[in-house]
Amino acid sequence: MVLGFAKKREIEVRPQKISAVGAAASHPYGLVIPSMNTESPAVTAIADLQTHVGQAVTLRGWVYHLRSSGKVRFLVVRDGTGLAQGVLVKGNLPEEDFQQFDRLTLESSLILEGKVKAEPRAPGGYELEVSRLRPVNISQEFPISPKEHGVAFLLDRRHLWLRSPRQQAILRVRDEVCRACRDFFQERGFVLVDTPILTPTSCEGTTSLFETNYLDQGKAYLSQSGQLYLEAAAMALGRVYCFGPTFRAEKSKTRRHLTEFWMVEAEAAFFTLEDVMALAEDLVRHMVARVLLHQEPQLRLLERDLGPLEQVVAGPFPRLSYGEALERLKEQGKEIPWGEDLGGDEETVLSQMFQRPVLVHRYPRSAKAFYMEPDPADPRLALCVDLLAPEGYGEIVGGSQRMDDLETLLKSLAAHNLPREPLEWYLDLRRYGSVPHGGFGLGLERVVGWLCGLHHVRETIPFPRLIDRIYP
Ligand code: 4AD
Ligand code: MG
Repeated sequence: MVLGFAKKREIEVRPQKISAVGAAASHPYGLVIPSMNTESPAVTAIADLQTHVGQAVTLRGWVYHLRSSGKVRFLVVRDGTGLAQGVLVKGNLPEEDFQQFDRLTLESSLILEGKVKAEPRAPGGYELEVSRLRPVNISQEFPISPKEHGVAFLLDRRHLWLRSPRQQAILRVRDEVCRACRDFFQERGFVLVDTPILTPTSCEGTTSLFETNYLDQGKAYLSQSGQLYLEAAAMALGRVYCFGPTFRAEKSKTRRHLTEFWMVEAEAAFFTLEDVMALAEDLVRHMVARVLLHQEPQLRLLERDLGPLEQVVAGPFPRLSYGEALERLKEQGKEIPWGEDLGGDEETVLSQMFQRPVLVHRYPRSAKAFYMEPDPADPRLALCVDLLAPEGYGEIVGGSQRMDDLETLLKSLAAHNLPREPLEWYLDLRRYGSVPHGGFGLGLERVVGWLCGLHHVRETIPFPRLIDRIYP
């Protein structure tokens, strides 16, 4: 047999009509290597090896580790679902396949066939008695090794860094959180409404806007939040949510800030602050429960302490008014003047005081956005809430009841020096059947960072955008 199967042109993607056993039958759109034996066993994900003990399978993946010992060759292969050890014993596979082992380097891609054996001592717990080995591409020297690298070095190679087990684990947790959010809202009758990314105005203040030129229409801005549009959609559909990228030209270089992040936002007609708080709490508990249920192995790989997360699922979350929060902070030696927003440091201190996330409500209006409904009991305050994650993580959710009265909103726009024209449509919502309503936004990366126990949000998104980074 010619050993030419590693060449690209010999790999073709074609839907298989053959109803034979093996790779074709279970993976109709998989890569088919023509030179491979048509009797090749079924392509199996490493995560599924447990159900194939004693059977022959085909594994496709990348070399994670290589080792030789006498006449035996060992390799650990990863395929995105897990790690498995392959054992090559001279004489148990064609000599030319055995020879191929010596060409392999870390991250070379390859296809293996062999019989599955449970082997508790092997990484992943299963071993393949290799009967065929075919390299697909021999990797050049891989720049990332198990030794310690600096963060800048790794971020410059983010496209390769993603292959590390830790990064894979984080991305799987992120995926679970996204699906948990969608299921949560769908089960509660919220309709997904996609809000625009190019917008004519700001939503969360003018200091963190990314500006662009919009053809002949003048300036446009990348969306800071879908909220204003969701309010319109809530007046049509009742309960709505959006989930998409959000942009903030935040000058703050902190462990909690990205310039591009994903936010899930909910909005509902006839919702009061009380409803907003209850919904946000339910969502957070639901997400944590789902991650514990389906992604515990990832959390363990990340060495996440599960105890505090189990506390979160149990609920309920403590609630503090802004005034009470100031008192608590003062007791801890952190005094801030009434009227100021809580900063990252204050949030860290507060969120370390409780075992569970804490809902801080009714901040001074002066510290918050223009659209928040004043508290009828004290009009200096807004009917708003921030949900702070425990263990020092701080704000993961911000929400409020919205101003539903036209005159109050006009006054607020003026007080915030915001132009009225680009928001006429938003004012219309207060002219035509206005109702009390409210909602919140939850930052996906902050939640993933907290659940994974990470120090910085930069590892929670596949390709982070930070104030000083847009590559790769
Ligand atoms: O508190 P924020 O600014 O609220 C809003 O944008 C509202 N319009 C949402 C709404 O009511 N529909 O942002 C909401 C959340 C924050 O709690 C935080 O989790 C996240 O978005 N967030 C960021 N995440 C990463 N990097 C940044 N620069 C972030 N800014 C906000
Ligand atoms: Mg906020």
